[in-house]
Order: sequence, then C-alpha cells, then structure tokens
Amino acid sequence: MDKHSDSINTARNRREFLKDSSKMAALVGGVACFGAFGGQMFGADSKTQDSKKDSKTQSSNAKDSKITESNHAITLNNGLSMPLVGLGTYDLRDSACVQAMQDALSVGYRLFDTAQMYANESEVGKGLKRGLKAQNIARERIFVTTKLSNNMTYAECKKEIDVRLKKLDLGYIDLLLLHREFENSKDMWRAMQEAHKAGKVRSLGLSNFSQSAFLDFIKTCEIKPVVNQLETHVFFQRREYQGVLEAHGVRLQAWSPFSKGKNDFFNNEVLLKIGKKHNKSAAQVGLNYLVSRGVSVIPKTSKIERMRENLNIFDFTLDKSDIDSIAKLDTGKSSFGWFNA
Ligand SMILES: NC(=O)c1ccc[n+]([C@@H]2O[C@H](COP(=O)([O-])OP(=O)(O)OC[C@H]3O[C@@H](n4cnc5c(N)ncnc54)[C@H](OP(=O)(O)O)[C@@H]3O)[C@@H](O)[C@H]2O)c1
Repeated sequence: MDKHSDSINTARNRREFLKDSSKMAALVGGVACFGAFGGQMFGADSKTQDSKKDSKTQSSNAKDSKITESNHAITLNNGLSMPLVGLGTYDLRDSACVQAMQDALSVGYRLFDTAQMYANESEVGKGLKRGLKAQNIARERIFVTTKLSNNMTYAECKKEIDVRLKKLDLGYIDLLLLHREFENSKDMWRAMQEAHKAGKVRSLGLSNFSQSAFLDFIKTCEIKPVVNQLETHVFFQRREYQGVLEAHGVRLQAWSPFSKGKNDFFNNEVLLKIGKKHNKSAAQVGLNYLVSRGVSVIPKTSKIERMRENLNIFDFTLDKSDIDSIAKLDTGKSSFGWFNA
C-alpha cells in the first residue's frame, strides 16, 4: 500500500470527506444521498457504500440505479470506483454542452471528462448540476475529471486548481490530471497533492505520459497517479503499455476511443462484420474490446441516441476469433499526426 491509500483509508479522512460531501450533496442536488442501493456510488470507496445504506435513499433512487445507471466500474489504486464508460466533452460548447450533460446523466452516464483546455468546465458543471437536481441524483454518484493543460509553477498551479474547482462548481474534483508531461510536472504534482490532502481533489492522474516519462515520474510521487489517459483505440491498442501501467497499479483510460472517426473507424469492415454477428455497431464493438481489457473509455458525442449506443456495450462477449481479428487492426501508431506519447 502506498501512502496515499493509507491516508485515504483512515476513518478520520473518510469521515471528514463525507462531512464535506454531504454539504455538497445538499448544495448541488438538494439531496444528501449516500445510499449505494446495489449500484456503484462513484468516487466512493466500498466500505463507505456499505456503511451508509439507507432504506429511504434506496427507494428514492432505485429507479435510477436499476434502469439507467451503468454499474460497470473499475477500482482505482486509492480504493475509489470509476465507471468504465464516460462521456468525453472536447468540442462541446455553450448550451449544447449544458444540454449534453443533462442528456448523458438521463441515459446513465456517471463519468465526465473535461479539461482546462476545452474551455467548457463551467458548462459541464452547470449541466451536471441541473441534471443532478432534476433527476434526483446525488453528487457522489458521478465522477468528474478535469485536467491542467498548461505548464505552471507550483504557485500558479495552486491557483489554477482553485479556478478549475470554481468553474466546475461541483464542490470537489474526482480526478485531476496533468494533461501531458510539462517542464514543471513535478512542481505541479506537488500542488496537486496538496489539493488532494485539502479534500479539493479525490484522485490524481496523468495523461499523455510516454512509458519512459511515466516510469521516471512515478519514482518521485508521494501520491501515486490512478490513471494515465492515452490515445487508445483498435488502431492503437497499447496492450504492452497497459501491462506496464498495471504493474504499477495505474489504470489505462482511453481518449479518442473511436480514433475520432479517423481511418474510417465507423465503417471498418472487421468491426462491422463482428458487429453483425452480435447485433452491434462498429462503435460498440470497438468500445467493448477496450472495456473487456479493463480500459476505461470516454467517447464523445452530443447526440443522445449515440450516448445510449456507446453505453450499451456490456451485453455481449467477443469470442476468441473476434479478439484475434481486432488485435490485427493495431498499427502501433497514433492516428493523430501531432501526437506521439
Ligand atoms: N487527454 C487528452 O489529451 C485527450 C485528447 C483527446 C481527447 N480527449 C478526451 O477524450 C474524449 C473522446 O475523444 P474525441 O472526442 O477526440 O474522439 P472520439 O470519442 O474517439 O470520437 C468522437 C467522434 O465520434 C462521433 N461519434 C460518437 N459516437 C458515435 C457513434 N456511436 N457512431 C458514430 N459516430 C459517433 C462523434 O460525433 P458526434 O459528436 O456528432 O456524435 C465525434 O465526431 C474527448 O472528448 C476528450 O474528453 C483527451
């Protein structure tokens, strides 16, 4: 166990966090609802879920849990639970972004991915608050990720974390990532660790760290990253790097899980053929392939039908011949010319 796990698991820290979270639930959703009622309470550790079961809460949220919420989640190295499928928000702007958050909540999304760079954290937060309130979902049931997108000094980073918190206005951030390796990554991480200790941020992680940068970085971390968010899809599968990350207790999260439609993803013959066999789309086959490996995915769409489609991937199993065919699609290279982590 690393120091982070030790500290987050102390009863004192948990009690303090829950006290704050409870205030937050009242603020955001008008409900203080900690009951787990059989579904996942994302961002909560399993002991907390069990000890807080409450029959009133169970009945008021049973519909939400049983009918729409995806219970498919992974456990991070700090004991928190994170959904396998989330909504990416790059390119979602203004009222369309606010609406997309509400739609996504209504069809069962509980994980949302934004960044300083996307310039939409206020809209993401606004849409989530509206959706949580209208749909009677507690803040603790969702998992919100944002990223620090610029190189900063330690002091600048401390301030920027507070800006992210203010823009999202959801009380705390579930996962804060370094958007990529920066000149000052280690100083920024120090500020992130302090934000974690202050209860502003529940988990810390990386994005776009190459294998060598990752291996160097984790040598110096007091708090271990929970994920490395990387470009990952059927054309760039990252199986070997996933093994390296997992050997260090770090999960792989896939950005652009459809390679943003590049290489004609949605019309790929291999994916379509496998999809036909399982009565699924190419998109669903591509996502299932990743989540079956325990990779969390954050496909982006603004369309509610596609949100449903991208979440509806847990009712079929790829067989060995499917997996072998998809494995052959791996080019081992990024689909994006600008990118090489
Ligand atoms: N950490 C990083 O550096 C980094 C980099 C890139 C992305 N990200 C994150 O990862 C998220 C996802 O990546 P992405 O947005 O680049 O690309 P993506 O999710 O691979 O693909 C999004 C594209 O696919 C379309 N689409 C979605 N579902 C579909 C479906 N079922 N059938 C057909 N088309 C579908 C979307 O169109 P519509 O919207 O019109 O449906 C959009 O054009 C981002 O939004 C962002 O949150 C992180």
